[in-house]
Amino acid sequence: MVTGGGTGIGRGIAEALGEHGARICIAARRADVLAAAVEELEAAGIQAMWVPCDVREPAQVEAVIEAILERWGRLDIVVNNAAGNFAAPIEGLSYNGFKAIVDIDLRGTYHVTKAAFEGALKQSGGHIINITAPFERMGVAFQAHVAAAKTGVDSLTRTCAVEFGPHGVRVNALAPGAIGGTEGMDRIGSGDERDARCPIGYVGAPRDIANAVLFLCSSAAAYISGQVICVDGGAAVGMMQIAPPGSDA
Ligand code: COA
Repeated sequence: MVTGGGTGIGRGIAEALGEHGARICIAARRADVLAAAVEELEAAGIQAMWVPCDVREPAQVEAVIEAILERWGRLDIVVNNAAGNFAAPIEGLSYNGFKAIVDIDLRGTYHVTKAAFEGALKQSGGHIINITAPFERMGVAFQAHVAAAKTGVDSLTRTCAVEFGPHGVRVNALAPGAIGGTEGMDRIGSGDERDARCPIGYVGAPRDIANAVLFLCSSAAAYISGQVICVDGGAAVGMMQIAPPGSDA
């Protein structure tokens, strides 16, 4: 199950998991986008279904889990990817604007996680991967709403890892850096040159995040749980630099 799986990073994750044999369910708000995505996944030989869902609504989330169990008979991997974003200074951000992002990113992740665990993963084990942001130790202007929500997701990741571990469920989070060709980059990207200024030197692709999902869901990551892993070309660790020795800067 990949929320927000019709486009961008979620779509890349759905494709990668499908290519590795998973049966896919993508769930998001726009039926036309989901239907088109499923058509393309199926054309690539991937078994896929879609269910319309606003992750802010627990009843809709529960309906997705039920639909998956009815169609595929099991649920093994949950990717909480659905998110909202826009850039706004606190001064211009309405109370409802802040709430909208916390509702989608944090409460939505909670709704999906709780419904998936109680409805399926608790019985059969599995994986939860939360797509978060590398904001835990940073103050990022114009992202008060997103940073508050995503660091809540980071915290939820750790709590769930502890509570769900004994049931054979590993819970981890991925914090993408600048990922090209996504709505998020369109909304808050700051231009190719600046976005590519990470130690690795280029803007990432949805496949970079998808590959990390594959790793976390594989036996190679069997002993990893409760972690937030940046997949950002080293951007977060390279944020603060000193002047080169001997320079006047
Ligand atoms: N700047 C400031 N405030 C904004 C805003 C912006 N660019 N965009 C939305 N808001 C405010 C709205 O004004 C509203 O507050 P108000 O009622 O006080 O006016 C509040 O946020 C909710 O907006 P609304 O459009 O009603 O919410 P929605 O549920 O329809 O949409 C959003 C949710 C806001 C996240 C919308 O941007 C969205 O659907 N985004 C698509 C997914 C996305 O962002 N993908 C990238 C993920 S990285």
